Amino acid sequence: MTVHQKVSQAFKAQFGQSPAVVVRAPGRVNLIGEHTDYNDGFVLPMAIDRAVWIALRPRSDTRVRIYSLDYDSHGDFDLTDFAKADDGWLEYIKGTAWAMQQAGQTLSGWEGVLAGDVPLGAGLSSSAALEMASARAFTAVSDLKWQPSAMALFGQQAENHWVGVNCGIMDQMISAAGRAGHALLIDCRSLETEAVPLPPDSVVVVMDTATRRGLVDSAYNERRAQCEEAAAYFGVKALRDVDLLTFEARAAGLNPLPRKRARHVINENDRTMAAVAAMWADDAVTFGRLMNASHISLRDDFEVSSTELNIMVELAQAQGGCYGARMTGGGFGGCAVALVCSTQVGEFAAEVTDVYQLKTRLEPNIYICQATNGAELIAG
Ligand code: GLA
Repeated sequence: MTVHQKVSQAFKAQFGQSPAVVVRAPGRVNLIGEHTDYNDGFVLPMAIDRAVWIALRPRSDTRVRIYSLDYDSHGDFDLTDFAKADDGWLEYIKGTAWAMQQAGQTLSGWEGVLAGDVPLGAGLSSSAALEMASARAFTAVSDLKWQPSAMALFGQQAENHWVGVNCGIMDQMISAAGRAGHALLIDCRSLETEAVPLPPDSVVVVMDTATRRGLVDSAYNERRAQCEEAAAYFGVKALRDVDLLTFEARAAGLNPLPRKRARHVINENDRTMAAVAAMWADDAVTFGRLMNASHISLRDDFEVSSTELNIMVELAQAQGGCYGARMTGGGFGGCAVALVCSTQVGEFAAEVTDVYQLKTRLEPNIYICQATNGAELIAG
């Protein structure tokens, strides 16, 4: 049974009728452009065919009542009076409502059933998917216009100020604005997007290392601070405004760590634009090489990889039919991503699983992903 069918069926069982509305919002994998979003730079993620789904109906009052199938738990709050708590998944919905109300939007209540198949905590943005599914639900029942970038900003505010995670804008933007069959180039300063077709005869494979790192938040914040230090040194708003020539001419005066971090970000922005050009040229080989270079830069200059991510990436790169591979997302654990020739993907997945298990004694998860649309409203 699909997740769509699951939430619709559970809704019927609970309310005795079909849902008035079903919404879905996808998780994501980033193909290239890592740790560039909070530097006002460029990212190239795609929305994946794993999503959060909510089947719902409007209420005539201001209550929001949700049953989570995955957690087998009920959550509920009143839009006129709610506060931060430690309520797990419900906090993402409350945080999104809070951000929308802060911006002056008048929200109506709803009730429904929630479920998803984005792996949790794997770095595939299950929380952004939940935020964007909630925003889609609120806009549907409150008769508000769905504006992807405005909604993404609400999700980011929920994450930053309600949940307390200091993320950039990439995850919410791609979950809100993804395009089926395409990756999305996002300018993280203007929030302009360009849908770029995936290279023909190739597939995107996500490889979960089955490792999760603690202390990721502090390492992430430390990287952000180092990037800001570098931007201040160059006298610009963000590292997006420094080109490679300027960097090379003046980098010697910068402290060693901010220098390495800046070198990654500046090169990664260039790689992302080159990757977009390669995609328009149907050039999977060049695209793959840029992915490989991105990994080295994240490993050596930005220092956010891990032993397991390096093992996974190197063994993926060694397989026949693999154009390129890199760690993806924040780093320190979670997933790597590869671009693989479609005719060889079965063999690739089997071999990567076996060798990774042998080398690490960990059991990886391999997801062959299709690029999907961003958050959508589907009639009951
Ligand atoms: C996490 C954050 C994103 C982005 C990536 C790194 O996924 O949520 O905003 O900064 O790390 O590219």
